[in-house]
Amino acid sequence: MDGSSADGFRPDRHPSESYGDILERDSNGVPDHLRQQPRWDEGTDGIPITRYYEREYFDREVKHLWSKVWQWACREDDIPNAGDYRIYENVGKSLIVTRTPNGEIKAFYNTCLHRGRKLVTLNGCKSEFRCPYHGIAWNNDGSFKDNPIGWDFPQWDGEDISLPQARVDTWGGFVFVNFDVNARPLMYYIGPIAEHFERYGWEDRYTAVHIHKIVKANWKVSTEAFMESHHSITTHPQILTSLADVNSQYDLLSDHVSRQFSAGGVPSPFLDPRPSETEILQHMTGRRDSRRNLTGDIPDELPEGVTARQALGDMSRKGLAEQTGQDYSHASDAEMLDPLLYNLFPNWSIWAGYTTKLVYRWRPYGLDPEKSIMEIILFAPMPKDGKRPPNAPIRYLEEDDSFMDVQDLLGTAAQVFQQDMGNLPYVQEGLRASGTGVVHYGRYSEGRIRHLHHLIHRYIEEGEMADGAV
Ligand SMILES: [Fe+2]
Repeated sequence: MDGSSADGFRPDRHPSESYGDILERDSNGVPDHLRQQPRWDEGTDGIPITRYYEREYFDREVKHLWSKVWQWACREDDIPNAGDYRIYENVGKSLIVTRTPNGEIKAFYNTCLHRGRKLVTLNGCKSEFRCPYHGIAWNNDGSFKDNPIGWDFPQWDGEDISLPQARVDTWGGFVFVNFDVNARPLMYYIGPIAEHFERYGWEDRYTAVHIHKIVKANWKVSTEAFMESHHSITTHPQILTSLADVNSQYDLLSDHVSRQFSAGGVPSPFLDPRPSETEILQHMTGRRDSRRNLTGDIPDELPEGVTARQALGDMSRKGLAEQTGQDYSHASDAEMLDPLLYNLFPNWSIWAGYTTKLVYRWRPYGLDPEKSIMEIILFAPMPKDGKRPPNAPIRYLEEDDSFMDVQDLLGTAAQVFQQDMGNLPYVQEGLRASGTGVVHYGRYSEGRIRHLHHLIHRYIEEGEMADGAV
């Protein structure tokens, strides 16, 4: 579909002011990319629930989706030196993403070409990849090094026995991999994000927090819980005073990039009576966390005509300037305060703006259709002294662990994530218990989710067509 068609259908929206209306009042210039509202429509079809738990559908995703898409593996600064490597695994595949002696980043299949043992099982730095089973070794650039029983392998004489590779590409300090050696470059897919994020300096950010959580739900159930804002009314009622939820904006920018914008420092249209501007300010500053860099004294009463959003925008611009030594006087309130979530199909989300920002990554948990991994990573801008702090270690949460256990790392957001987790196992169980066999999504505000399903299914159908399977 063409998400930018000028004469496309505009689905119904919540009757309150739109996110675009809120931007009109912002105290600083709002960049054009935030104002764009491409017209798009994914229709209203129901989606079969079997796609959330059936082994057969999961296997089709493994074969035709995960083998074809760009997947975020690690950061470039996770592997700064020759020999540094990170293991990236998904749906039973395992890659060694490593910096070679000449500084290139490569992704080798993490399998010994002899008897198939994984070459590495922990992240680290090595001068060679020597299999712990029989000692056959490869160099850091993937070329064959030596074989203690080489006399017994005439079949390898004169053959290229380098480690096979997946594709690697980078953007913004992120290293992506793709198992499809014929894949188009990453930029073909990530283009709108690369264009809109130019001013946010992602190369100069470091990993401040990294949480890795096992979730008792299909990977799409986990993903979809972070693709709309209107679940806040029942799931996160404590944030409604300072989050305009149900009037959020949802855009499909291309087949592979979509986004959602919600206004911070503006109350939910559901709230009646509407809180005062001072109440909104005090609510949001009371929920102060590192992501908005709010600083300064909180006034008992806002001056007449000053909105909470303007005051919060000023506090955030000032706080971030103190932290980084940079000037943010040009930055819009939206870019300081709002959840501006972009999604790269199928499993990666990144927040736009200047402050410390979130990235999400969702994957199946191994080959289990009913479990997934959700990662929440906070990327902070470089501090004033310009010295890159070390990346935070990964904090692992098992399926029954709570995000409240990492409140020290996530601040008030821990409660929000735990509230989301409170739904997901019951979504999974409820889907299996369905009496209709289908789920329904809102036409506009859940159209991005419907598009996710449509595009996954298109990958499967095109893959099967190419295989001659149908
Ligand atoms: Fe949520």
